[in-house]
Amino acid sequence: MAGIDYAERIPNNVDLSGNRRLQRALEDWQPKFLAWWRDMGPVGFQTRDVYLRTAVSVDAQGWARFGYLKMPDYRWGIFLAEPEAGRQIGFGDHRGQPAWQEVPGEHRGTLRRLIVTQGDTEPASVEQQRHLGRTCPSLYDLRNIFQVNVEEGRHLWAMVYLLDAYFGRDGREEAEALLQRRSGDRDRPRILGAFNERTPDWLSFFMFAFFTDRDGKYQLASLAESGFDPLSRTCRFMLTEEAHHMFVGESGVGRIVQRACELMREHRGDDVRARGGVDLPTIQKYINFHCSVSLDLFGSEVSTNAANFYTAGLKGRFEEGKKDDDHRLKDATYPVALLDGERVAVREEPALVSLNERLRDDYVADCQRGVNRWNEIIKHHGIAFELTLPHRAFHRAIGCFADVRVSPDGRVIGQAEWDARHSEWLPNEDDQAFVQSLMQPVTTPGAFANWIAPPARGINGQPLDFEYVRP
Ligand SMILES: [Fe+2]
Ligand SMILES: [Fe+2]
Repeated sequence: MAGIDYAERIPNNVDLSGNRRLQRALEDWQPKFLAWWRDMGPVGFQTRDVYLRTAVSVDAQGWARFGYLKMPDYRWGIFLAEPEAGRQIGFGDHRGQPAWQEVPGEHRGTLRRLIVTQGDTEPASVEQQRHLGRTCPSLYDLRNIFQVNVEEGRHLWAMVYLLDAYFGRDGREEAEALLQRRSGDRDRPRILGAFNERTPDWLSFFMFAFFTDRDGKYQLASLAESGFDPLSRTCRFMLTEEAHHMFVGESGVGRIVQRACELMREHRGDDVRARGGVDLPTIQKYINFHCSVSLDLFGSEVSTNAANFYTAGLKGRFEEGKKDDDHRLKDATYPVALLDGERVAVREEPALVSLNERLRDDYVADCQRGVNRWNEIIKHHGIAFELTLPHRAFHRAIGCFADVRVSPDGRVIGQAEWDARHSEWLPNEDDQAFVQSLMQPVTTPGAFANWIAPPARGINGQPLDFEYVRP
């Protein structure tokens, strides 16, 4: 296995020192990245010692090292999963041919676009979350958000490596542009909608990590199937880090749910807000919001782009290798939820153009498993309340449901009903102001804000009262 050379300016397992041109391109980009981190990374805390994990190899058994670091000193590097000898393209027209080690000329533009779109989400989420440090509910959570932030920074490096290594001058220009767009900026926004939304409080952050980072997991998993081998290997290692981001999201929401239940039990009532917790109906509204904006990230239900990516061997299905069909899908069909007059109906569509919807289905099933675990917490407290995912047609801005109003339970409704009821379904100004009012920093080791339960265990075997971020 190629080790990671920490003596180099940019830690990597891609033999960077053997490619002077690429090394110079990345060394030229590195100070620009650091300037971006300074301007748009976490506000404050940059001179603090944070207990972070750093990727030191791609070995499944021990790829991370834990220790105190100041965030600007994090070793953002380039790590690809180990090559698979004799790897073949697993789907589409090129199925069975050797995976590409260079970009196939006819797919250059498309592949670049896929990489840039993925890459753009990474710095975007850091920008969205940059103000949250000062309202952290504990040092444990503060450390976790910073861990997510530095790794999203590394994911940007991962995509910039591909652009610089394989796309020449166009790639270098895209690498610059990735540092110039800004989340939520009117003139130069990030590419995808969910990455221009605000993440104003920690409930939103945990929801984002659960729903939106999980979209990342599904996009990365389908790019990990790519016939373009460097992209596949890059994404496979990113998925290793991504798992922690979803853990932060799921456990964060779960701890807020648990605290709501504890407050309901202790005080024999459900006025959780009066007791300083987030009530379950408010949590449901945040689910409705974050789930729906994340569903949009999968694109249109019926998409010739998706079909072309697949046929060309660029982007596969989730767990392509585990599916036992012909992996070409020319004659197959797939059931797709579509708008049929005044209602939502499921129709069989050609499988190739339905690939976005299929990935969305895999994603929804994964989200549902997390929601089930939250409901277990509620049930365990003997409380009759069930959290649910909103219907996939609810509050959509992309695809066939973008132009209709749909209730969270999937009824197509008129504008009048929407106007009357949307503030029951999505966080309204009062909800947001209430959640914001809870955002008071807690920075004593081992202490947690009243609205969130402590986690089951600390990070890397450390106790809960460990100094995860030093003063
Ligand atoms: Fe990421
Ligand atoms: Fe992530």
